[in-house]
Amino acid sequence: MAIRQISPTAPIRSPHPLVFGHRGARGHAPENTLLGIETGIQLGADWIEVDVQLNAGRLVLMHDPTLDRTTNGQGMVAEVSPAYLDALDAGRGQRIPTVQQAFAYIDRRAGLNLELKARGTAAILVQQIRYAVQDMGWDWSEILVSSFDLQELRQLKTLEPRIAVGALYCGVPLDYAASATALGARSVHLSHEFLSPDMLADARARGLAIYVYTVNRPAEIERLRALGVDGLFTDYPERASILDRVA
Ligand code: G3P
Ligand code: MG
Repeated sequence: MAIRQISPTAPIRSPHPLVFGHRGARGHAPENTLLGIETGIQLGADWIEVDVQLNAGRLVLMHDPTLDRTTNGQGMVAEVSPAYLDALDAGRGQRIPTVQQAFAYIDRRAGLNLELKARGTAAILVQQIRYAVQDMGWDWSEILVSSFDLQELRQLKTLEPRIAVGALYCGVPLDYAASATALGARSVHLSHEFLSPDMLADARARGLAIYVYTVNRPAEIERLRALGVDGLFTDYPERASILDRVA
């Protein structure tokens, strides 16, 4: 599948929002697994969004800091041994992938949006992304790192300015998207629950791409398209990509 290319410096202005498969395709397959990623790609996602946690010095795909909700294991992701974590069932017999496995598996069939969930992950992720670009054939424009933790993103950006970053917000900051500009972010990732016209206008004026999460209802998808957002995260990529094809 061809990725709709984006430049790390210049947000695209497409009439069709980019489709981010949320945690792969959470509405159809176990989240943050290779099956979820494959499902997202097959359902037309341009990008795959996954969550990243730290386990024994390596990065793994997992939303929660604990294993309990999404696997048959228990405990903190950061505290269990790699052998314990690797043996767990993350749903339908899926294992918990590492970030490196995700890069290898996707193999540039979609862009990869890595959402950092834990502190202290920036330096390791920089190494992984450099490896993906230099040794696995990925292009910088096909990788996007996001986080609610803008300090962690700043550290990442300082270590490797070529990595595109997206500032995640769940709310409307007093200074709107100013922190995204300060960070050198390419995009703002906004919760659909807090979409404010002033925030959208400010992000636009700053030249930031606007991506909205997590949008599953077709009417909401249509509303966001009409608003002209640049992308949306959905558990059901086919709902957004079907609208795309109909238009
Ligand atoms: O990256 C967008 C979205 O995934 C952020 O919220 O909790 O689903 O990771 P969450
Ligand atoms: Mg996420």
